Amino acid sequence: MAPIIDCRNLIKIHKQGNLEVVALQGLDFTMEEGEFISVVGKSGAGKSTLLTILAGLDVPSAGAVEVTGLELSDIAERALVRHYRRNVGFLWQDYSRNLLPYLKAIDNVELPMLLAGVGARRRRARALALLEAVGLRNHAYSKLHTMSGGEQQRLALCVALALGPKLLLADEPTGELDTETSLGIYEVLRRLNEEGGLSILVVTHDVALAQRTDRVVRLADGKVAGPDYHRESATVEVGPHGAVEIPRDMLIEAGIGDRAKARIVEDGILLQPEDTSDGS
Ligand SMILES: Nc1ncnc2c1ncn2[C@@H]1O[C@H](COP(=O)(O)OP(=O)(O)O)[C@@H](O)[C@H]1O
Ligand SMILES: [Mg+2]
Repeated sequence: MAPIIDCRNLIKIHKQGNLEVVALQGLDFTMEEGEFISVVGKSGAGKSTLLTILAGLDVPSAGAVEVTGLELSDIAERALVRHYRRNVGFLWQDYSRNLLPYLKAIDNVELPMLLAGVGARRRRARALALLEAVGLRNHAYSKLHTMSGGEQQRLALCVALALGPKLLLADEPTGELDTETSLGIYEVLRRLNEEGGLSILVVTHDVALAQRTDRVVRLADGKVAGPDYHRESATVEVGPHGAVEIPRDMLIEAGIGDRAKARIVEDGILLQPEDTSDGS
């Protein structure tokens, strides 16, 4: 299956007067369908530039970018708009970008469907199902100003998902929310990913939140950087049959592939690449 996002040697130079800023310098990145990925990196690393390009809102200076199977640079603008409206949803840090303040919650969710020509009964049913899924059923008929920041961000998520996209792109969606509210949003995203098969790419500077995703991609100076050596430990869940899921980044860093050797040591269990000889 083709990846849902495929960036090859992506270069983006922002021109400001006669000043040139290289925001992306030869970025290679792929994301498979069904993944829940976070993109982290310091301010200025190029995260928003990447997302804006993936969103089709800006064009790269060089390189190729494919999203949901379409090469962005060689399709006509109208086809691009139609494609995006159907296949890709966006969530921004400033959730008001997804919301109209004078409409009730449910009308905000129905609006993209109204514009896409979805009939009234299907609109209402889908909007209610989305509100239910994010825990906002009881706010369906609320005005926005009566809702908290976290509630409005979850509502913005419903708007982003109104047309049933395959891919959700989110730029710092919890940047303005407190930790507990942010965790709630991540739980909702996780559920949409696991139960709804939604592919999610979320940009964040919060490493604790990033660790809740399947894969962490680190950007530095406009390129994908190597493994993050600060991530030396992680809390993992132990399933009913002893199944343990180790974060993929950690496995890669430890050089562990499909099989590993587990060994009891003094203070726990050590997991090593299978071919490591321990001398005993
Ligand atoms: N519209 C723009 N015009 C000029 N420079 C820009 C513009 N957008 C971003 N940049 C520059 O590109 C670099 C990457 O920015 P950005 O993609 O916003 O990074 P991040 O989201 O990781 O903080 C920074 O040096 C930033 O100043
Ligand atoms: Mg940014």
